[in-house]
Amino acid sequence: MKKRSNIITVAIDSPAAAGAGTQAKLISKEYNLLYLDTGKLYRMAALLKIKNKNFNYLYLKKNMAKLKLSSLDNKGLISDEVANTASVIAQDIRIRKIIKNFQLSCAYNPPTKYSGSVLDGRDITSVLMKDAMFKFYITANVKERAKRRFIEYKKLKKNITFKEVLKSLKNRDKLDKNRKYSPLKKTKDSILINTTKLSKKSCFYKIKAIMDNKIYN
Ligand code: C5P
Repeated sequence: MKKRSNIITVAIDSPAAAGAGTQAKLISKEYNLLYLDTGKLYRMAALLKIKNKNFNYLYLKKNMAKLKLSSLDNKGLISDEVANTASVIAQDIRIRKIIKNFQLSCAYNPPTKYSGSVLDGRDITSVLMKDAMFKFYITANVKERAKRRFIEYKKLKKNITFKEVLKSLKNRDKLDKNRKYSPLKKTKDSILINTTKLSKKSCFYKIKAIMDNKIYN
């Protein structure tokens, strides 16, 4: 794979709804980086599985080969059913391998209009971008995460209770942290950011201070 040199690379891992996506978007704007929410790829695979009875590896491979970044703006990806299915199929090493290339090309070969890339997910710091210039592990208390996700769902008029959201987040945490391949974990070289009591802004200032220090000094 072609790799661009001298680019800024940011890898973020986090459990669901910890605020990683929000921070990754802010980072991408501040430093002109391509942003990829890798969870969306697993959600896309999940949606394909839910919608097609004849879903198989080849089918997924074909769909991934023609996937455009803009296709990930699909509202159909935001649902508890899709998230839970994503977490189940993400345990499958063959599915992970099919999704890997798309992520690697965003990470290491972003379009030249960008100064680099920022990816968030579950195995970005530990597997996908081990050599990233910046590595963060963003987390928050599970009740706080459920509260945030519940508010997001309510805004989208989703018919779901807080209890259900909390239960499925706990279930996904368990699956994602305990699976055999690419489990979610904090690597030793990642900087821990706990967003439970932090506003979006103060969390971003913390990250920006760390990044500016390395980029501009
Ligand atoms: O981040 P998001 O909640 O959208 O991810 C959905 C699911 O996709 C996660 O619960 C996880 O099982 C899977 N995933 C993964 N590796 C990634 C990103 C997401 O296994 N890098």
